Amino acid sequence: MIIDARGLRKTYRRRGRGAEPVEAVRGVDLQVAEGEIFGVLGPNGAGKTTTIRMLATLVAPSGGSATVAGHDLLTTPEQVRRRIGYVGQAGGVDENNTPRANLLLAARVNGMTAAQAAARTGEVLAAFGLSALADRPARTLSGGQKRRVALALGLVHRPPLLFLDEPTTGLDPQNRANLWDQIKGLRDGGTSVLLSTHYLDEADALCDRLAIVDHGLVVAEGTPAELKREIAGDVVSLRVSDTREAAKALRGLPYAREIKAGGDLLRVYLDDGERALPHLLATLTEHGLALESVALDRATLDDVFLHKTGRSLRDAA
Ligand SMILES: Nc1ncnc2c1ncn2[C@@H]1O[C@H](COP(=O)(O)OP(=O)(O)OP(=O)(O)O)[C@@H](O)[C@H]1O
Ligand SMILES: [Mg+2]
Repeated sequence: MIIDARGLRKTYRRRGRGAEPVEAVRGVDLQVAEGEIFGVLGPNGAGKTTTIRMLATLVAPSGGSATVAGHDLLTTPEQVRRRIGYVGQAGGVDENNTPRANLLLAARVNGMTAAQAAARTGEVLAAFGLSALADRPARTLSGGQKRRVALALGLVHRPPLLFLDEPTTGLDPQNRANLWDQIKGLRDGGTSVLLSTHYLDEADALCDRLAIVDHGLVVAEGTPAELKREIAGDVVSLRVSDTREAAKALRGLPYAREIKAGGDLLRVYLDDGERALPHLLATLTEHGLALESVALDRATLDDVFLHKTGRSLRDAA
């Protein structure tokens, strides 16, 4: 286990009399195995950055305990720090310096000799496809290129564990896919990765396992497939004239595992949507309910989030 966190908490006190403290993280357990990509998925303000910064020794926890990369986070943070890389939400690249200068400095700060630093810098520049851009000021690079420099900076000292806070936010689809490949390449080379994201498709496509967080708590945990299986195979979304009446009519059906009403939309979770759909529609007609639209989908991670929190991740932010 490269990360074993128990009951991690962070309460931010706010200045000013009468200001309520903010419970950013309210007791998070995380177990991350060596060599996996672990995702922390949640909406804005869920506590992702605070959790990552605590595990990366950058924010002191208010409570709980953790072992990170083999060392106790609270009693030996300097041991932890030596074994991790951290790439923040904002990046951390010095824009007025070149990628090469950024990397050389990071390598020297981490105790490498000038010769070691030069060799390692050449290596990571090549690994991230940055060799041709190495000597331009970083401010002239594209968003995707800058992210790759930031990622390289987090890895220059070969940490066995890398923290990435929303590594692909703001990138176009092609650059995102590119970065996913880079991150998978790191995992395949033996680096453990803990990343945060608020993209469902990213959590699904990139992460070996994930924790869904909301309001500072883990509400679900598992592989993407496990989480989706827990919810059910298919989802039928219905827009009907009377959502409450429709929910009542459908609740008795044996194949409807679960029915959730959200706004004017009714979501019915079932095992075999194709077969159930005709019966479902017939039942609505029998009850004199007018159907405005219907859609049949496979359950997604958003359904998991909806199921656990009562609202959609798409709306939660
Ligand atoms: N330094 C701070 N002082 C006070 N409150 C803070 C501080 N940092 C974070 N918070 C609050 O803690 C909560 C969790 O914030 P955090 O940055 O961990 O969320 P997040 O999941 O990373 O969100 P996002 O997706 O927007 O990055 C929020 O309500 C935030 O306003
Ligand atoms: Mg954040």
